[in-house]
Amino acid sequence: MSEFDLIVIGSGPGGYVAAIRAAQLGLKTAIVEKEKALGGTCLRIGCIPSKALLNSSHHFAFAKHEAAAHGVVIGEVKLDLPTLLKRKDKTVSQLTGGVAFLMKKNGVTVYQGEGRITAAGKVGVKAADGKTADLQAKHIILATGSVPIDLPNMPVDGQTSVTSTEALSFDRVPAKMVVIGGGAIGLELGSVWARLGTEVTVVEFLPRIAPGFDLELATELQKSLTKEGLKFYLETRVNDIQIKDGKATVNATAKDGKPVTLEADKVLVAVGRKAALGSAVADELGLALDERQRVKVDAHFQTNLPGIYAIGDVIAGPMLAHKAEEEGIACVERIAGKAGHVNYEVIPGVIYTHPEVASVGLSEDQAKEKGIAVNVGKFPFRANGRALASDSADGFVKLVADAKTDRLLGAHIICATASELIAEAVSVMEFGGSSEDLARTVHAHPTLSEAVKEAALAVEKRAIHA
Ligand code: NAI
Repeated sequence: MSEFDLIVIGSGPGGYVAAIRAAQLGLKTAIVEKEKALGGTCLRIGCIPSKALLNSSHHFAFAKHEAAAHGVVIGEVKLDLPTLLKRKDKTVSQLTGGVAFLMKKNGVTVYQGEGRITAAGKVGVKAADGKTADLQAKHIILATGSVPIDLPNMPVDGQTSVTSTEALSFDRVPAKMVVIGGGAIGLELGSVWARLGTEVTVVEFLPRIAPGFDLELATELQKSLTKEGLKFYLETRVNDIQIKDGKATVNATAKDGKPVTLEADKVLVAVGRKAALGSAVADELGLALDERQRVKVDAHFQTNLPGIYAIGDVIAGPMLAHKAEEEGIACVERIAGKAGHVNYEVIPGVIYTHPEVASVGLSEDQAKEKGIAVNVGKFPFRANGRALASDSADGFVKLVADAKTDRLLGAHIICATASELIAEAVSVMEFGGSSEDLARTVHAHPTLSEAVKEAALAVEKRAIHA
């Protein structure tokens, strides 16, 4: 029996960050991971490989459609898909290897195998080769993440109908792909394959894409993606997928009740993800779950079982790597007697298409629903010099400020680098700052970030370049 202060089950951004913080705080820490590589969904089959594909496919589309306008003469542009995929895999292995290095550097013991809490403070580990280990600790954190939702009428065979995992590694560019679900996964991966030449059709049940984001951003994003070649069926519900001889037929129903039938070589099912506890906790322990099978926790990430905590996608809240990381740190700091805390009001969300969309805090509509009077400042990138000089004139910044106090309540950005620009608004909100604070902050010229300042000025209707 190996003894630790803390055992973390799951090595995604929630789990591995928690393990590092625990080691920093002097806790003897172990991490258990069932996959060969550390890093979880995000590093292995999520955020990182999809960003690598988005980057490569963006270069391909640039070379094909935009380089000539810059006076860059390339000639015939051809796709070398194996090289593109190899680069993606290399990025993933660099990062998963990096996590292994961080574990070593911080003195965290890594156990490869399936971890299972069998009794209070006891974790059994079973490796794929049958080897077992018995571990013991006062504290155990469940950070087992999530998996794609599978629906009985939308069977995933991993070949013709696929999840995001398989859509990261198609061995050829499909001629036609139907994407079910207009959320972050469907739009990012739909975008990748559309840029590489696939005819992509997104079928979304709601009257809009990018649920959870400000509607104006979603509408603008849909316009840009349509220019990129994606087709959209909104207010259309997929009923089932039929697969025959490697081809798929997607049967759906439009809002007016008319049937919609789409043929495809690949169908990406991206209708959401669900908590994935698997067999990490023995049934007889009676771990409490909520109505969506997520682990129930209190404000300190404590489950109903003493000494067992849970963080990240396996508990309630947005399924985002950075949310899991912050929870991991807060949970460990609480265990170590410190005042760890997560500010759920200020968690940015991003979709990494081109342009990117990024949001934090309240949208105008959400503020209205809460009965908060707001002032809104908006600034378009077509009035920003750097954006015009860099082919980034699509999009805008929209800031939402409390009408009484001017406190910044939300920021919504659509532009080429929205994922980076949102960080400034996040900081201002974290400090409880106002739109005035942002408006009076000096921004380097020429930068896209000036549009954030201008939107802040626009809250009081005094934008300079609008
Ligand atoms: P999602 O929940 O964001 O979107 C799924 C969409 O599918 C919804 O708009 C829903 O209305 C639609 N849908 C469901 N059933 C349908 C049907 N029968 N017919 C047509 N449409 C249907 O889920 P997604 O994109 O799979 O992402 C899962 C999770 O992963 C999310 O929590 C997301 O935030 C996270 N994620 C975040 C990323 C990022 O931050 N960039 C990237 C990838 C995933």
